[in-house]
Formats: sequence, structure tokens, C-alpha cells
Amino acid sequence: RAPIVLDSDPGIDDAVALQYLLGTGLWDLKAYTSVGGNLPAEQTYLNARALARAMRIDTEVPVHRGAGRPLTRLPYRVAADFHGPAGLGDETLPDSTAAHPTESSAQALLRLSREYEGELTVCATGPLTNIAIALLEDPAVARRVGRFVFMGGAAQVPGNITPVAEFNMWADPDAAELVLSSGIPFTMVDLDASHRWLFRPADLAALEAAGPGTALAARLLRVYMEAYRRSGGDGTCPLHDPLAVGVCADESFVTLAEGAVIVESAAELTRGQTVFVPASAGRIYYPESPALTARARLTGRVALGPGPRDFTK
Ligand code: BDR
Ligand code: CA
Repeated sequence: RAPIVLDSDPGIDDAVALQYLLGTGLWDLKAYTSVGGNLPAEQTYLNARALARAMRIDTEVPVHRGAGRPLTRLPYRVAADFHGPAGLGDETLPDSTAAHPTESSAQALLRLSREYEGELTVCATGPLTNIAIALLEDPAVARRVGRFVFMGGAAQVPGNITPVAEFNMWADPDAAELVLSSGIPFTMVDLDASHRWLFRPADLAALEAAGPGTALAARLLRVYMEAYRRSGGDGTCPLHDPLAVGVCADESFVTLAEGAVIVESAAELTRGQTVFVPASAGRIYYPESPALTARARLTGRVALGPGPRDFTK
């Protein structure tokens, strides 16, 4: 089984992503690193601990406390409207009683990038603050991480928090910009793909009928589906974070294009916008701005849509 770190801000779909990751049996989860995002960092840490317990991994997998605020901003904007007041729908899960380390999420990422140099997959399903802090501490993390797959961005479609920005990128655009211009080999699983694989009421009914193993995920997704319905949806909901985990193992869930992504971190109107620079363009189009050109590192791949394999099956 391959070493992986899941960096997450649970969050309903983050929680489902954890269960999905464990269910594949493909991964050796070295750390579950929490980060603020959907809820303040203290709450996402508590949620991560409780989820680790609910999924019976808390004695083997360390849970780490993440960044308490975005890199240069205060504070995270809480998304309780989608994830529930404490982030896990209507659930009140008991805390883990296992001894979890005092090492922060960023420190754990740094250490694991050394211990598993070249082979570590990092999957991020929240704001990229922890990864940015690790990179600020040691820029070589960018070449030690084997693969970095994250849920975030909207390359060609509208955003979901502003007309142009996806939530995770908008929540900490400075971190996102730092990470994506660091040279790290990234795969961006963005709204272009996650808004195309939708979880439908029939899928929920099947999950509910599948037995106790999926009961928690089913209850969480029922709340998530209802939140999407309230916000004007058609009764379906995206599975953003599980899709990112899925892509770690099977890239055929999405259609990828190589290139760079520049994240808007200075502007208010377009904060968190992800500008995709395709490698196929042959050159970078910021002739008046060497600084901007330098930020476009062609080390990534971006999901521009769904792939041949159906993620909802
Ligand atoms: C992302 O935002 C969060 O609320 C979800 O957990 C997901 O990571 C989707 O934009
Ligand atoms: Ca998330």
C-alpha cells in the first residue's frame, strides 16, 4: 500500500473522502492532517479526531492540528450553511481518546516528505495553508513530494463562492498561489470535474440500503444534498473531496491537461480565481510582467472535465 497524507477541513465531503480513501484499501494513511476552512481550525481538528475514531483508525493514524488562520488573512470564513454548525451535518461524534501528536499538520507534512521522499502522495481537500507553511519552512518539500492532488479551483467554469472562485482557493489564496508556483507536481481536481459527477437521490438511497458500514456517509450526504437543494440546486450534490481522493488512485475519473495555474491573491473582485495556463500554448502570455510569468510554473495538471470512467458508479 502506498504512503499518503490526507490534509482536510472536515466538512461533510471531507469526511466522506476519508471513508472512501480507507475503503479502497490502496493506501497506507500516514497522517490525517487537519486545516481550518469549512470551520475554524479547532473544530476541524476535533472533527478529524472524531472521524478517525468513528472509522476505527485513531490508534494507528495520527491526527494533527492545522493552521488556525489563512497565511495572511483573518480568519477562515465558516461554511456552516453547507456543512452544519459543527461541520459534520447533524452528527455529534465522540472524540478520539487515542494519544495524538502535538506536531502540527505542517510539521508532519515536512517530516513525512523526508521519510517517504519521492513516493509520498499528498491529497488536500481544504485550503492549502498547511502545505504553504511546510513550503515556507523548506521549499524542497516541492520536489520531495511524489504527487500532490488537491480539490480546488475552477479553471473554466464559474466558482462556487464568488462568480470566479472556488471555496478552497478563495479561503486562502496566498497559500494556494505559493503552493502552485512552488514547482510541486500538482493535479488540480476542480469544479470543472466535480460539478460533472453528481450524487443523485437514487445514489443516496443505494448508500442508505448498503448497511451499517456506509450509514454515517449516507447521513452526512443527506444533509449535504439538502444544503445544495436550499442553495438552488436540482436535488443532486457534487462529491468534490471524494473525487480528489478517487483521482489519487485512478486518473480516468477526470480529463487532465498539463500546464500552470496562477491564483489571484491580490485582488478583491477576483480573489482566489485560478488562471489555467496550458502547456500546449507553448509560451506564457504575460509579456509585460516577468513577476507574473515567474509564477506560472508548468508543473501541474488540471482537470478540465469528467473522464471516461464514471465516478458515481
Ligand atoms: C470545497 O469546499 C468545501 O466546502 C468542500 O469541502 C470542498 O473541499 C468545494 O468547493
Ligand atoms: Ca473540503
